[in-house]
Amino acid sequence: MSSDSGIPPVTVVAVGPGDSRLLTLRGRQVLEEADVVAGFKTVLDVVAPLLGNAELCPMSYRDQEEVLEYGVGEARKGRSFVVCCWGDLNVSARELLARVRKRADIVELVPGISSIQVACARTGIFMEDSLFITLHKRQEIDDDLTELAYYLKEDRRHIILLPRPYDLMPAGIAAHLVELGISGDRPMLVYQRLTLEGEKRWEGTLKQCAESKEEFSDLTIMIFPHGEIEVSGQRE
Ligand SMILES: C[S@@+](CC[C@H](N)C(=O)[O-])C[C@H]1O[C@@H](n2cnc3c(N)ncnc32)[C@H](O)[C@@H]1O
Repeated sequence: MSSDSGIPPVTVVAVGPGDSRLLTLRGRQVLEEADVVAGFKTVLDVVAPLLGNAELCPMSYRDQEEVLEYGVGEARKGRSFVVCCWGDLNVSARELLARVRKRADIVELVPGISSIQVACARTGIFMEDSLFITLHKRQEIDDDLTELAYYLKEDRRHIILLPRPYDLMPAGIAAHLVELGISGDRPMLVYQRLTLEGEKRWEGTLKQCAESKEEFSDLTIMIFPHGEIEVSGQRE
């Protein structure tokens, strides 16, 4: 199928936070019917067991342009092309969506469950009481760090923060925040590999995090709670 404009159609499916049981029914249906499915390798690992006869096109940061180009070429020939993204597509997935948008007509965006929603479920915090900041992007993040420090000082909301593997990880971020004048006694949590094998929770103060020697996973979320929270269980 090709759109009237000749721009190839593509569907984007957000696959959830890692546990394939958290993929939506619509996402699953689109994937089962797909001819060509592209995504980063870790994302494809989640969906591969659910696919029909689709051709899998794993991509890396280096070759993503070429892989997407190949997929839209196949869509032009009439094959259904699906691009998968991790978690939800409106949470820190802007760069991939922009890459798809510039070469194809996105016919459907299938949202997913974000890792930040899972972090909210684990900590009992509500999105409406929270502020979300991502450092997981290529652009300059100085403004984001300043904003983070500003809101931590203001202390009116929970803050959900995505680090940037591996140059801006919890210990380095915490040390930087202490330098910016945030109290080292500030409580915080770090979640790793939410919903996946090896899910972990770390709890402590900003100072303890700054001194931590733990090698945090690339799937890591930091939470700075505002007031008391009710932390609950992990993956089953
Ligand atoms: C490029 S962002 C994409 C986020 C994704 N769109 C989402 O909604 O979860 C990737 C970052 O999300 C966070 N993340 C994603 N899945 C996670 C998980 N299962 N556990 C902890 N953090 C996760 C990590 O900070 C990771 O570096």
